[in-house]
Amino acid sequence: MITVAVPGKLYIAGEYAVLEPGSAAVLIAVDRYVRVRLTPTPSIGPAVRTITTDHARGRSIEFVHRGAGFEPVSAAEADAAGLSHVLAALAMVDRYAAGSGRGPVGFALDIDSQLDDAETGRKYGLGSSGAVTVAAVRAAARAYGLPLDAATELKLALLSVFSVDPHCSGGDVAASARGGWVYYRTPDRAALISALARRDLDLGALLRQPWKHLAARSLPSPRELSLQVGWVGRPASSSALVAAMKQAARQHRSVYRRFVDASDRCVEQLVTACRAGDDRAIELALSAAGRLLRDLAAASGVAIESPELSRLRCLAEELGAVAKSSGAGGGDCGIALIDPARVPALRRRWRAGGIEPLNLRVPERKESIR
Ligand code: PMV
Ligand code: MG
Repeated sequence: MITVAVPGKLYIAGEYAVLEPGSAAVLIAVDRYVRVRLTPTPSIGPAVRTITTDHARGRSIEFVHRGAGFEPVSAAEADAAGLSHVLAALAMVDRYAAGSGRGPVGFALDIDSQLDDAETGRKYGLGSSGAVTVAAVRAAARAYGLPLDAATELKLALLSVFSVDPHCSGGDVAASARGGWVYYRTPDRAALISALARRDLDLGALLRQPWKHLAARSLPSPRELSLQVGWVGRPASSSALVAAMKQAARQHRSVYRRFVDASDRCVEQLVTACRAGDDRAIELALSAAGRLLRDLAAASGVAIESPELSRLRCLAEELGAVAKSSGAGGGDCGIALIDPARVPALRRRWRAGGIEPLNLRVPERKESIR
């Protein structure tokens, strides 16, 4: 049996701006995992796959290899199981494996996600689609006996998520694949998607060549500051917020362009501060990133910092911390960087203010990469 565990993620800075090719964000991986167990099935007759997830209430969805790829035995059941990212990841690895002369392999895939709270059904916004994509790519590649270096794995996972949703930056994929603190710069997704659509595409060659703009680099974490995460009790839809922002950006082009440039400068300052181990400069950059998002919200009318996220931030600021919304906003989580001595007070205040402090840590890189 092949088992992989891939961590979830949170945005630190660069949200929305990172959707522009060549723009950047900083993210962290968090120690809640998507776990995948893959059991190869005997290769007699056409290859068969089953996928079991919490979403499908423990039921197995079956797929059989016919002609060009794997098809669900019951299309309705497969649609209802919400497997689009897993299926895109498996199809991408199948295509890569076929390019190196391997026939389709059958297996049973069991997916178990800690990123949302299975008992209560709570969604925290820790990036389950990115993590499950990386997990599926990693497990399927091993089933084929295809060794993947970190760059190839990242590119396969990015192509998978872009083929499902071209309006996401892939930052979540980079954080889940790399672990730790990560600097990510998004590639030209439109160019990659049109490359994927070409029938004569040599996927191996596309994976080997450098991709314009793409970067995913590990960063040192702050030395003395504690990163705290609060959940505001309301899930948010990143895709709806991103769509609303896209619309607003079309109406206010120059304002949006200025936001993207300022965000990129802010992310560069954060990266420099992390590399220099300068916690004070990290705080300044984080605070500036939060302010830019609040100004963008005011200009666009897209509610990034919801009233709950604003409460989370103010409660942290009153204790001398730096805090901001994380990700698309509108709900989910906010983050704070704070003196470790003040963490118990922050958590008490958040709780009293209706914010749930989450017990999350940033796993070291070695835990998240094979
Ligand atoms: O809320 P999250 O964690 O899904 O983050 C979304 C971040 C955006 O920059 C707004 C979108 C993206 O795909 O990068
Ligand atoms: Mg979110």
